[in-house]
Amino acid sequence: MIQVLFVCLGNICRSPVAEGVFKELVEKKGLGDIIQCDSAGTAAYHTGSLPDKRMRKTAFDRGISLTHAARQLSSDDFDRFDYIMAMDETNFTNIRDASFRANGSYLPDRQLYLYRLFDPLRGESVIVPDPYYGEISGFTDVYEIVERAGAKFLDYLIEKHGLSSVLRD
Ligand code: 4NP
Repeated sequence: MIQVLFVCLGNICRSPVAEGVFKELVEKKGLGDIIQCDSAGTAAYHTGSLPDKRMRKTAFDRGISLTHAARQLSSDDFDRFDYIMAMDETNFTNIRDASFRANGSYLPDRQLYLYRLFDPLRGESVIVPDPYYGEISGFTDVYEIVERAGAKFLDYLIEKHGLSSVLRD
């Protein structure tokens, strides 16, 4: 089993939609028994909450129902997840520092990534921008980014783990 964790700040906007969209992509390829995913936030402000209403609506309108209950990143996650995908550089640094505090060592490059690096249309930007205090268009932007990044990240996993022979057409 390949375990993937998406991480943002609050775990109510970016990481739950990244998780929901990626799960759908994985299911469509018939890889649901091989790739599992979850999401978490570096902060605990919203623990137990459903994703933000604006994010749920944006996803729902595109066929994805978001039901994740927010949770904070924990030190167990560093052992449990093979891939930890940070939405922005602050998340990345906070995850890195938390892993150092927990284990006395930083996570290896093969385990911790900036998710936007998988977005083919990212241009100069390496972050999934935080939509929380912005306009509704920010939520649509996030959705489109995680959809593009998710497709490429899945291609990367298929190639890296030699999964092409088990793909559904
Ligand atoms: P997220 O967005 O990190 O994408 O879930 C945010 C959610 C809540 C807050 C900030 C960002 N907040 O400050 O409560």
